[in-house]
Amino acid sequence: MRLLITGGAGFIGSHIADEALARDWEVAIIDNLSTGRRANIPTGVILFELDIRNRESVQQAFRDFQPQVVSHQAAQASVAISVKQPVLDAEINVIGSLNLLDAAVEQKVERFVFASTGGAIYGEVPEGTAASETTPPHPLSPYAASKYAVENYLRCYEREHGLQTTVLRYANVYGPRQDPHGEAGVVAIFLNRLIAGEPLRINARVTAGDDGCIRDYVHVRNCAQANIAATAGELPVRLMNVGTGQGISTRMLADTLQSLAGTNSQLEFGPLRAGDTERSVLSPALFQQHIGTPVSLEQGLQDTVDWFRASKR
Ligand SMILES: NC(=O)c1ccc[n+]([C@@H]2O[C@H](COP(=O)([O-])OP(=O)(O)OC[C@H]3O[C@@H](n4cnc5c(N)ncnc54)[C@H](O)[C@@H]3O)[C@@H](O)[C@H]2O)c1
Repeated sequence: MRLLITGGAGFIGSHIADEALARDWEVAIIDNLSTGRRANIPTGVILFELDIRNRESVQQAFRDFQPQVVSHQAAQASVAISVKQPVLDAEINVIGSLNLLDAAVEQKVERFVFASTGGAIYGEVPEGTAASETTPPHPLSPYAASKYAVENYLRCYEREHGLQTTVLRYANVYGPRQDPHGEAGVVAIFLNRLIAGEPLRINARVTAGDDGCIRDYVHVRNCAQANIAATAGELPVRLMNVGTGQGISTRMLADTLQSLAGTNSQLEFGPLRAGDTERSVLSPALFQQHIGTPVSLEQGLQDTVDWFRASKR
């Protein structure tokens, strides 16, 4: 199998590359290294260093590698940046995706898997419920709107060109190799700070000083598994959440990480962040049916604490 991963030098994409190599697949990556790192790319993987907004370069990479399947992870992935720069967000997330889709059609790619957002696409998820794949999307940020736009384009390409497409809606993903210096990725940000003995900041759910937003944290291994199953043609659904169904507040996350790491960093409280929803929890029913039980939060966080500790040595 020849798999092309866009954004493969990033956090989630590099884990997909690892899983694909474990299956002896041939892997290439398209990445402009804007947030990704060369060090994340496993050996034996070809890197096309280019920007997905550049249509000609994208087409050339597809001609050179001739992928059978594509896993599209490259994106402007920050809700906060999308609020400040919606045009930039749309250029990368919408136009960039269309460039890839056109190249995929030209090269007769069999399957195209898209990293969408379960965390943002459903808008506010009411207390006591979890959003399932049949919950109507209600994007509240430019980032969520751009992801939903691409989900709809995928259906058009499937209908017009017979390209098989799969949409994976991730919850809040965490795990080894997540960039602690980005705008998103609270687990990585907290671990980096608590290992350095610095305070942790809880942004408000409603008002500064509360326990923060409720999120569903899913381990990156589960995203990689879902992508490999979908690209391999082993996933019988074309839309699936990748989440755990368990929602916790930012405060509870901070406390859990501190107890797993044995640290006692101070907590600070910040205001509500632009574009944030109060509560997001995803139903894991389809994931459980087709992939298996998601990694438990305790086990996944412990694994991540250990990795961050080891990488600091
Ligand atoms: N991390 C999460 O919690 C989460 C949740 C839901 C969805 N997602 C989606 O999953 C995907 C991967 O996210 P991640 O957390 O691994 O982020 P990441 O920033 O680590 O990875 C994104 C990769 O895309 C590359 N990239 C960005 N813009 C590019 C461009 N114009 N051209 C070429 N390459 C470009 C970056 O260099 C980086 O390597 C994204 O599509 C994101 O929207 C992530």
